[in-house]
Amino acid sequence: MYILGIESSCDETAVAVIERGVKNSVLAEAIKSQIDLHAPYGGIVPEIAARTHYETIDRLTRQALSESGLAMENIEVLALTLGPGLVGSLLIGLAFAKGLALAHALPLVAVDHVEAHIEAPFISQPQIAYPLLALVVSGGHTSLFYQEEKFVGRVIAKTRDDAAGEIMDKVVKHFHLGYPGGPLLDSVFEKGDAKRFPFTRPRMSDGGGDFSFSGYKSAVLRLAQEAGIQPGSQDFFDLLASFLNALADYLVGMTLEAAASLPVRSLIVSGGVSRNRLLRQRFSRECAGLGLPLFLAEPRYCTDNAAMIAWLGYEKYRAFPQANYFDLTLNSYSRASFRAGSRHR
Ligand code: KG4
Ligand code: ZN
Repeated sequence: MYILGIESSCDETAVAVIERGVKNSVLAEAIKSQIDLHAPYGGIVPEIAARTHYETIDRLTRQALSESGLAMENIEVLALTLGPGLVGSLLIGLAFAKGLALAHALPLVAVDHVEAHIEAPFISQPQIAYPLLALVVSGGHTSLFYQEEKFVGRVIAKTRDDAAGEIMDKVVKHFHLGYPGGPLLDSVFEKGDAKRFPFTRPRMSDGGGDFSFSGYKSAVLRLAQEAGIQPGSQDFFDLLASFLNALADYLVGMTLEAAASLPVRSLIVSGGVSRNRLLRQRFSRECAGLGLPLFLAEPRYCTDNAAMIAWLGYEKYRAFPQANYFDLTLNSYSRASFRAGSRHR
């Protein structure tokens, strides 16, 4: 079966064509990252994001089809990110997908973006055993999900303020070093002494297992100010390395604590921040020590992409054959409201 997936929730417009069934592979992907357009502002400008989706989505769809060697007539299912994300951006993808669905009489499967991040490691590793724990860590989300089986699960922890990627982006923006911040921290990590500056791990006063990242930004700014640290100096590289190291320790520590409290056969780590080399190494080392099978998304499927949308779209289509996939009243949603598989079936 051939599925065309569309992603437009944030600052990447992406279209993928995949084949599922007897063969399981990603046939083509077309992606337009808007990083260059938002970088001058130090963060995403929703209006620019939506306009760019509008200008590129048709061209990217043609490109993905042409690279796959298929035509619209060969596509059997459409999959689309319905939310969460920037509503103006999501609506461009939704309107475009509805048009395609109507014109070609195709079923349109609405997919939750966060749930699709959890799906991403399955693209290259189909044998992931349930129950699983998944850490989705990106610019918009830092949450832990527990799934007893596919499409059955719940959120067990989430951030109470910023997401991990967001705090990296904010710190880097503060020092006028561009956007997004995560890749920069990744690339300069080896230049600094990661043990030089101490960070205190946040604990919820109510004893809950949620995350909190806003204190890390205050701590970096305070340390820089107190010691008069200037960007570009060795002290500065030490500070950035220590900051990234502390975030990795926190994410790994919280995740493994949750894993120890539940019956878990697999651990998934996905989302844009899971591209980070230090985080990948740290999780790999700790999970090997514990004998806990770890499944990381391939780096290209950590950040936003349409292959994961198409992949989950197919799984939903197969799992819920009775659902109405011809519902043109579908509407985008901005906020995360994860109930695995149950929403917008
Ligand atoms: O998953 P994603 O593309 O979009 C959201 O759904 O949010 O994640 C984007 C986030 C940004 O905050 C970016 O700084 C971070 O992922 N990121 C990284 C790396 N690559 C992207 N963070 C750390 N290390 C990286 N190599
Ligand atoms: Zn994402």
